Amino acid sequence: MREDEQKAKVIGQFSLQAEGYSRLTSSMTNGRQEGFRALLGPKLDDLLLDVCCGPGTLTLDLAPYVAHVTGLDLTPAMLVQARAAQEKRNINNAEWVEGDVYALPFADAAFSLVVSGAAFHHITTPRAAFAELVRVCRPGGRIAIRDVTPVDQKSAAYDRMEILRDPSHVHALTVDEMAGLGEGLPVGVPVVRGSVTADLPLDAVLATSFPEAITIAALRAMFYADALSGEDALGFNARLIEGDLRVSYRQTTCVWIKY
Ligand SMILES: C[S@@+](CC[C@H](N)C(=O)[O-])C[C@H]1O[C@@H](n2cnc3c(N)ncnc32)[C@H](O)[C@@H]1O
Repeated sequence: MREDEQKAKVIGQFSLQAEGYSRLTSSMTNGRQEGFRALLGPKLDDLLLDVCCGPGTLTLDLAPYVAHVTGLDLTPAMLVQARAAQEKRNINNAEWVEGDVYALPFADAAFSLVVSGAAFHHITTPRAAFAELVRVCRPGGRIAIRDVTPVDQKSAAYDRMEILRDPSHVHALTVDEMAGLGEGLPVGVPVVRGSVTADLPLDAVLATSFPEAITIAALRAMFYADALSGEDALGFNARLIEGDLRVSYRQTTCVWIKY
C-alpha cells in the first residue's frame, strides 16, 4: 500500500475516533503507566517526545516526571483532544506538533527520551519510522515503544480482525519483530517487557472505531463466537464476564539506549 493512501486512512479514521478514543484512554489512566514509566526511567531534566501521541494521554501522564514533553501526531483532531486534556489537567510543560513519523520536524538528537504507544500497528514501514525515532534521540537517551503484540500463531487472525474493525490497522508486530527494530541502528539490545491491558468492555472498544465494509453488530458476533468457543482464535482474549463481552490486549514494551 502506498504511504499516502495509508496516511489518508489514518487521518480519516482518527478524525472520527478522536473523541471516543480520548475518552477510552483517559478512563484507563489510573496506574496504567507505572510499569512503563519504571522501565523508561524519566528524569526531571529529560526532554521527551511522544510520537503518534493521539489524544496525549501517555504524553500528559509522563509530563510531571520530565522537564518538557512534545506530542506529535498526523491527525489534527487528535491534537485538539490533546490540547483539551492538557488544559483540563492543568499541565504547562507540554506542546503539540502536527507531523509524520517518517519525517519528524526536529533536529538530530533534539530529545533525551523518545516514546511511542499503540501506534506502530498503523505504520507500513516500521523500520523507517523507528530510524526517525532514533535520529531525534541524543546519544545516551532512551527510545521506548509499547504496542499490542499478538502471539505469532494468532498474528494473521488478529490483523484480519483489526483491519475489519479499523481499516487504518496495518500489522501488529510480534515481540520478535518489535525487538528487532533496532538492528543496524545505533542502539543497544532492548529491554523487553510483556504485559496485558485491563479487561475492556468490547462495546467500549467497538465504540471507538468506524469500520468500512462490515457492521459493528457483525464484529460483535465474531467476538461473541470466539468467546463462546474458548479458543481465543482472534488473539483478543475475548471472554464473557457476567454476561459482558470483555477483551484484553497483549502488549510489549521495548526500551533501547542510543549510543
Ligand atoms: C491508536 S492511536 C495511539 C495514540 C496514543 N499514542 C496512545 O497510546 O493512546 C494511533 C495514533 O497514531 C497516529 N499516527 C498513525 N500514523 C501516523 C504517522 N505516519 N505519523 C504520525 N502519527 C501517526 C494516529 O493519528 C493516531 O493518533
